[in-house]
Amino acid sequence: MSTHATLSGLRIVVSAGPTYEDIDPVRFIGNRSSGKMGFAIAQAAARRGAQVVLVAGPVSLPTPDGVQRLDVRSAAQMHEAVLAQLPADVYVGAAAVADFAPAHPAGSKIKKQAGQDTLTLTLVRTRDILADIASHAQRPRLVVGFAAETDHVEAYARGKLENKRLDLIAANRVGVAGSGFESDDNTLNVYAATGDSKVLGPAPKTELADALLDLVAQSLSRH
Ligand code: C5P
Repeated sequence: MSTHATLSGLRIVVSAGPTYEDIDPVRFIGNRSSGKMGFAIAQAAARRGAQVVLVAGPVSLPTPDGVQRLDVRSAAQMHEAVLAQLPADVYVGAAAVADFAPAHPAGSKIKKQAGQDTLTLTLVRTRDILADIASHAQRPRLVVGFAAETDHVEAYARGKLENKRLDLIAANRVGVAGSGFESDDNTLNVYAATGDSKVLGPAPKTELADALLDLVAQSLSRH
């Protein structure tokens, strides 16, 4: 499945896992994400000789060998940590970043009041790490995004590819057995800005990571 093209000499930044946006000191809003896909990509890239920085949200996964890991919690922290890693040759945004965060996190635990039936939270948009990286003055040569979709996979993925000015986007269908968030296996539909597309898998995320890196190496050689 994979030709294992070398990535020696390249600096690759990978984001992985969810972000947690605090509501108060004991509660948060987060996305479902195990971090497995991003960790597999970081590991595979390091094995191919790349210098890899892995910016990880809160996950319980061991650090892959030869990878520099930076742990963060919130979308704002991930944004700062990722941008601080520029310049880089490749950015792979595999993290499931929260799109909204509580506008005013409470400093102490929010208590329910007698007779209270509802609680209203005001959320504000987080900054889009991937879009900011792709439009940065120090834009990596290759910017790769992920899209988790329940339906209209190709249309939404191609929309993101264009809007966020990406080179590649790997879309997976969530809500189907053997695919998506906590699963070890996945199927990726990869769309390129050149118009090309390719289906990777179904396969274990470790194999998909290698197949995706072959596409990365191929795209870099054409740049
Ligand atoms: O727009 P959507 O969140 O579906 O796009 C998913 C892609 O965008 C993923 O690659 C994710 O890492 C990235 N993203 C980001 N910053 C955000 C939201 C999403 O980098 N605030």
